[in-house]
Amino acid sequence: MRKTIVAAAAVIALVACSKQNQTRVSAPAPASATVSGAKAKSVMHERSDGMKKVGKAMKILGAQIKSGAPDMTAVKAAAAAMDGLARKSSAWFPAGTGPDAGKTRAKAEIWLKPQDFAAKVKGFQTAAANFNAAAQTGNAATATASLGELGKSCKACHDNYRSDEHR
Ligand code: HEC
Repeated sequence: MRKTIVAAAAVIALVACSKQNQTRVSAPAPASATVSGAKAKSVMHERSDGMKKVGKAMKILGAQIKSGAPDMTAVKAAAAAMDGLARKSSAWFPAGTGPDAGKTRAKAEIWLKPQDFAAKVKGFQTAAANFNAAAQTGNAATATASLGELGKSCKACHDNYRSDEHR
C-alpha cells in the first residue's frame, strides 16, 4: 500500500514535471529539488488551492459525520477527493516556496526539519487513505471511527508548520 502511494506520488510528480518541461520527463526532479521564479509561484498557488480543497472536503466530512445520519454518497466523494489531495500534497513543498518566496502561511521550519515534515505528510497520506477505505465500505460507523485520525493529522502539521496569519 505504502509502495503504491509512493509510486502514485512519483507519477504525479512526473506528470507535473512533464507539463512544465516537456523535454525532461525522463529525469524527474527529486521532491527536495529547489524551485524558484515562476515555478515557485505556481507550486505555491497549487498548494494554496490544494489546501483550500482539503479544507472544503474536511468541512463536508465533519458536517456529515456530525449529523449522525451521514449521506454516505457525499462522504465517499469527499473521502476520495481527500485521498487524492493527500497523495498530491507531497509535491506541494519543494524548497524555495517558503516565506521568502512570497505570501504564504508555510513556515520556514518546514525546510529546517525536512524529515519531521515528511513524516507529517506521510501521516496525512496514511490517515486519508485509511479514512477513504473506511468511507468506501459505505458503513457510517466505520467512517465515523476513522475521521478522528484524519483530523489529528491536519493538526499535527499545522501546529508546527503553518503560521497563524497570512503574511
Ligand atoms: C504536512 C503538513 C500539512 C498537513 C498534513 C495539512 N496541512 Fe493544511 N496547510 C499546511 C500549510 C503549510 C498551509 C499553509 C499553506 C500556504 O499558505 O502556502 C496549510 C493551509 C491550509 C488551509 C488554508 C488554505 C489557504 O491558504 O487559504 C486549510 C483550510 C488547510 N490547510 C486545511 C487542512 C486540513 C483540513 C488538513 C487535514 C485533512 C490539512 N490542512 C493537512 C500544512 C498541512
